[in-house]
Amino acid sequence: MDLEALQQQCLDCRKCPLCETRQHVVFGMGVPDAEVLFVGEGPGASEDAEGLPFVGRSGKLLDSYLMAVGLDRQTNIYIANIVKCRPPQNRDPLPEETAACKPWLREQFRLLRPKIVVCLGRVAAQQMIDPGFSVTREHGVFIEKGGVLFMATLHPAALLRAPANKAQVFGDFLALRDKINEICTHTTL
Ligand code: URA
Repeated sequence: MDLEALQQQCLDCRKCPLCETRQHVVFGMGVPDAEVLFVGEGPGASEDAEGLPFVGRSGKLLDSYLMAVGLDRQTNIYIANIVKCRPPQNRDPLPEETAACKPWLREQFRLLRPKIVVCLGRVAAQQMIDPGFSVTREHGVFIEKGGVLFMATLHPAALLRAPANKAQVFGDFLALRDKINEICTHTTL
């Protein structure tokens, strides 16, 4: 099983009611040998329309931070979400939706074997790092779990609402660049 075969299976998923309202399953995108995996919350309207992660306004902002540190979804990272289908009105995914969808992300993680996971926002951080995780207090901190480093930063949509936090997020991306240079073998920045 590779990522493409997994994606084919995921595109037919009907494990939760979000399949009834979706236009597209947003499986994820990036390079299959990525050492850095970014995880968001779930598709919004633009992502649902296009079938790709982070392609709306938050995605453009995310791409600018990625570019600033030499990262790019076409060449050296992978981007996925906690839930692969859009929750109506962009509400938080429900616990049962997250639970139903989690095996897809778990399998993506198993196939990619990333060295670093960057959680974008509270929902991803609480799912991937710790249910009590506070992005406000603990952003930019690397936490080792099972030989993989996890870090969270603010969600780009939150940054669009509160641009004053942009400097903090830029600091997190600089810390990410340093960590990549320290531990990654083929993510050359
Ligand atoms: N927000 C997310 O969390 N994920 C996306 O793919 C787009 C917006």
